[in-house]
Amino acid sequence: MDRVLEAEWLDSLPPHDPRAQRARADLRRVNFLMGNARHIARALSGGQTRIADLGAGDGSLMLRVARRLRRPGVKLALVDRSPSARTQDFERVGWRARIAREDALEFLRRPGPRFDAIVCNLFLHHFEPAALRRLLEAAAQRTALLVACEPRRSRVALQACRLLGLLGCNDVTRHDAAVSVRAGFLGRELSASWPQAQGWQLSERPAAPFGHLFSARRDATL
Ligand SMILES: C[S@@+](CC[C@H](N)C(=O)[O-])C[C@H]1O[C@@H](n2cnc3c(N)ncnc32)[C@H](O)[C@@H]1O
Repeated sequence: MDRVLEAEWLDSLPPHDPRAQRARADLRRVNFLMGNARHIARALSGGQTRIADLGAGDGSLMLRVARRLRRPGVKLALVDRSPSARTQDFERVGWRARIAREDALEFLRRPGPRFDAIVCNLFLHHFEPAALRRLLEAAAQRTALLVACEPRRSRVALQACRLLGLLGCNDVTRHDAAVSVRAGFLGRELSASWPQAQGWQLSERPAAPFGHLFSARRDATL
């Protein structure tokens, strides 16, 4: 399956449209089914305290990660050009969250503090190859660890999308899930888009059942 990018319906629906609200609730279930919070929390086991989540959406994925990590004192930037997260939700787990309503690339390129970790969940697949390389290059300048959990571009994942209706997911979710899988990743595709600089350890693998997990970790000695 070649990688194909098409528009996702949720990206063009007004935030308060009932179908968009329903699709965001569906997305929480899709994240649960994919085990994405578990995959990301495991990658963040190194005590990172300054974290940015790119394409954070309603913040629910990072909230699940926060509950798993049980690490109060984290400072979190929720970056999204159309965010629907509530920073108060993070106070209960002892995290200080702020929302950056802006394009992720602009956020990364604007001078600012470095992060211990940058997280992307179901986000990188939105980008065509050249834009993806620009985004990862900018991310590499701002962090020592990037972890991304993306859809895996596989027939099994595509077939699973057809079953989402049985779980009560709406037309937006069913459409966007299939589009996301076709725009997802395989093999070492994300590693190939990471900047060529030395001193990074890259890992890229399937993340059962339907995900694709990439991490780039700067060598501690550098
Ligand atoms: C599929 S949703 C994933 C949301 C969240 N990460 C999750 O797993 O629930 C993708 C999110 O990326 C945001 N987004 C897409 N392109 C973006 C960009 N260039 N800059 C910032 N946010 C973007 C959308 O607004 C949307 O909230």
